Amino acid sequence: MRLTIDVLVIGSGIAGLSYALKLAKENKVILITKDQAEETSTRYAQGGIAAVMYDPDSYEKHINDTMIAGDDLSDPNIVKITISESKDRVKELIKWGVDFDKQPGGRYDLAKEGGHSEYRVLHHKDSTGMEIQEKLYIAAKNHPNITILEKYFAIEIITQHHLGIEINRRSSDIVCYGAYVLNPNSGKIDTILSRCTMISTGGAGHAYNNTTNPKVSTGDGIAMAYRAKGFVRGMEFVQFHPTALYNPSEKPSFLITEALRGAGAILKDYQGHEFMHKYDSRGSLASRDIVARAIDNEMKISGEDHVYLDARHIPSNTMIMHFPNIYAKCLQIGIDICKDLIPVVPAAHYLCGGIATNELGETGIKHLFASGECASTGLHGANRLASNSLLESLVFSHRAALKTDSIIHNINHEHMIPDWDDEGTVLNEEMILITQTKKELQNIMSNYVGIVRSNLRLNRALKRLEIIYKETEELFVRSIVTQEICELRNLIQIGYIIIKQAMERKESRGLHFNIDYPKVDRNKLI
Ligand code: FAD
Ligand code: SIN
Repeated sequence: MRLTIDVLVIGSGIAGLSYALKLAKENKVILITKDQAEETSTRYAQGGIAAVMYDPDSYEKHINDTMIAGDDLSDPNIVKITISESKDRVKELIKWGVDFDKQPGGRYDLAKEGGHSEYRVLHHKDSTGMEIQEKLYIAAKNHPNITILEKYFAIEIITQHHLGIEINRRSSDIVCYGAYVLNPNSGKIDTILSRCTMISTGGAGHAYNNTTNPKVSTGDGIAMAYRAKGFVRGMEFVQFHPTALYNPSEKPSFLITEALRGAGAILKDYQGHEFMHKYDSRGSLASRDIVARAIDNEMKISGEDHVYLDARHIPSNTMIMHFPNIYAKCLQIGIDICKDLIPVVPAAHYLCGGIATNELGETGIKHLFASGECASTGLHGANRLASNSLLESLVFSHRAALKTDSIIHNINHEHMIPDWDDEGTVLNEEMILITQTKKELQNIMSNYVGIVRSNLRLNRALKRLEIIYKETEELFVRSIVTQEICELRNLIQIGYIIIKQAMERKESRGLHFNIDYPKVDRNKLI
């Protein structure tokens, strides 16, 4: 099937939905999502969204915290844009119906998370993401100009390459004409031609064994853009959240929000001793890279596979009122967080790098935009400050929408694009080839390209990855396309870029810690 549309949006999280809602005022939009529309990382966000709301907070303080977390690798212009537009974008969310918790006097109840010098995180109890996801989804679903196609899987974005024209990473005139998309009803590949296309496909936590990300986070958009010769950067900066609930039988891992540490919970070692002050004067609320590395170190010293979070001193009514989901979830597995220590372990959580974009969400490929976790705007540098990502998605989807509006009417659809060629492909009858390779990839990434790296481990990871890369490409070429094989291929692509970019960075910085480049830093003892 062939479809033509003004705007194609790939992804139904905060980045895709907010962009679609803005464009739909004057354009017809198709939004595709590879699962149910609500199944996104956005939905699982707990802590909230950072914004400068009241005195004594200020733009300068939030900018400074973001730059410190980013280990001076954040782009100062992008940081300034994001933070100075934070309040406007939050107000817009509220207009779309999002309900943030308030104090009895009517002011928003702001939380504090690691690396923030002020209380500035707007939240809806401990399920902020669910609230945002639901309200944006309802608005988009009810919009007459937006068609949401669920379980449609984007395989490749379409460029001149599909017209037989050679392009490479140095080409400055690559144009995006839309995407090839797997249609769940026919099992065939549709061609969706669009004037402008937005990639908002989220992160890639499933490149690792242990992740807080939902199963949709397989790096598809980044891998597609990379194959289309787009520019991808900052991929060595993978953020591990320090406190995923330790519950080995559960995948993905359930998150214990940093806001719990903001409310006073303290990290303790296996013997019940506080340990974070050995590593950082901010203790349990140091920035995430430091806390995750400290936990990793403590686990190596003790030989145990988790540490603890102690929230027993926080009044139980505060816990139940502010963290009802965490309370209920832990109780389900026999842990009463008001009385028991919570076992926690770091898990892959957020990809700071991605498709390089400018301050208007434009990628290096014409008419192709990217926003949200799949994009690298320059905000996060070497490490993301907690709760800055929902904000980033809103700011750059807004800016991308303004830019799209200003160019879209001068863009024509490209009618010469051929349909997807699947001649000679056969059904892959051995799922084991895919499931086993995915496990291999996740083991390689977790064991050699995790929280602490070395040149030897990275080299070994690359050699192992090259084998599964070759095998999977061969399998892909001869197989009828399925979501499973595409996701595996994309995850391997993501692993490859992470390793390559980690090898190129000949220093330890932010989230990328390589023991061959030990670093002396004013704040960090490891
Ligand atoms: P997502 O919300 O992940 O949406 C991606 C969409 O793309 C999905 O609809 C998916 O189906 C679709 N998609 C992917 N590939 C394809 C394909 N090939 N074809 C079609 N569709 C595709 N950030 C904060 O700022 N504050 C927080 O409190 C916070 N808490 C978090 C808690 C958890 C447990 C997690 C996992 C993340 C948290 N984050 C938080 C990070 C934040 O939630 C994400 O970075 C953000 O929601 C990403 O939004 P997005 O729109 O870019 O992607
Ligand atoms: C959390 O609630 O700890 C997650 C916040 C984030 O990832 O920004």
